[in-house]
Amino acid sequence: MSSSKQKLLTQFENYLQNNIPNVSCFDNRFNDILQYSLKAKAKRFRPMLLLSVVKAYCNKKRVQKSFDIALAVECLHTYSLIHDDLPCMDDAKLRRGVQTLHIKYDETSAVLAGDGLNTQAFYLIAKSKFSNKIKNSLVYELSCGGGINGMVIGQYIDCAYENTTLPLKDLEFLHINKTAKLIATCLKMGAIIAKRGKREQKALYDFGIKIGLLFQMQDDIIDETFTQAQAGKTTNADGAKNSFVNLLGIERALEQTHKIADKCKKELKKFRAFDKNLEKELTILLDGYLYRHISKP
Ligand code: IPE
Ligand code: IPE
Ligand code: MG
Ligand code: MG
Ligand code: MG
Repeated sequence: MSSSKQKLLTQFENYLQNNIPNVSCFDNRFNDILQYSLKAKAKRFRPMLLLSVVKAYCNKKRVQKSFDIALAVECLHTYSLIHDDLPCMDDAKLRRGVQTLHIKYDETSAVLAGDGLNTQAFYLIAKSKFSNKIKNSLVYELSCGGGINGMVIGQYIDCAYENTTLPLKDLEFLHINKTAKLIATCLKMGAIIAKRGKREQKALYDFGIKIGLLFQMQDDIIDETFTQAQAGKTTNADGAKNSFVNLLGIERALEQTHKIADKCKKELKKFRAFDKNLEKELTILLDGYLYRHISKP
């Protein structure tokens, strides 16, 4: 990993661990429950997408100010994982290298920790130090990408259509909403913080949708080809899902994923037209992600 990427990731990780959501209450278990999944080892891909765009344009102070927003995105994503693992959804026992929250504690705790991290995301944006105009845009974007017109409807379709093969168009709807919109939103939120124009915001969002679809295709391949220890989460669990592997078979899924990764790599160059630094930061970040489906740890 490049040293500048490692530095930013370490800074954000330290910020997260030192600013973890915390509640004042006579009960001494809830904070452990709330913090458990957030503290566990994770890639922090979404916060890094946001921070990389900010870093391309802004000084250190503004990058530092963005950590609260990056943390907000990670809170919302972590909530989606906690709920995704529940018995009523994917029924998974391992996440981020440790037991899932409902196994470690109980289902009530997992539902409530998810609820808490969801609202905490918007609290963090509201109390951040940006102008009201920027904060309003950030709340709007995150509620679109991570809410009912994004991750939530995607997760609903994912679970409601288990054991039912969706036509290609609906399958695309599923994966764009479940995964790609939140990823695209992170790039757009970075552009909003960096005060970039609408055209650039859109270009980043559209690229994010492609990266997001790639990310989910890779995730489906990981489910099929990685051990639990390698993935740090329950694998071989997508049997009933409308996954890319089930749709295409593993060979074609690998082939298609590779093609899309190559395309994304090429497309990165178009960000040079906006700014050389943007192209550089995104290239540095995505190196290590574009072919992650074939690089087992
Ligand atoms: C897993 O997300 C869920 C998907 C949308 C594929 P990540 O692969 O980013 O998981 P963490 O955050 O590193 O645990
Ligand atoms: C979940 O997709 C995407 C979310 C919105 C959480 P998956 O169910 O494939 O994610 P993993 O494989 O459990 O991480
Ligand atoms: Mg799922
Ligand atoms: Mg799952
Ligand atoms: Mg998966």
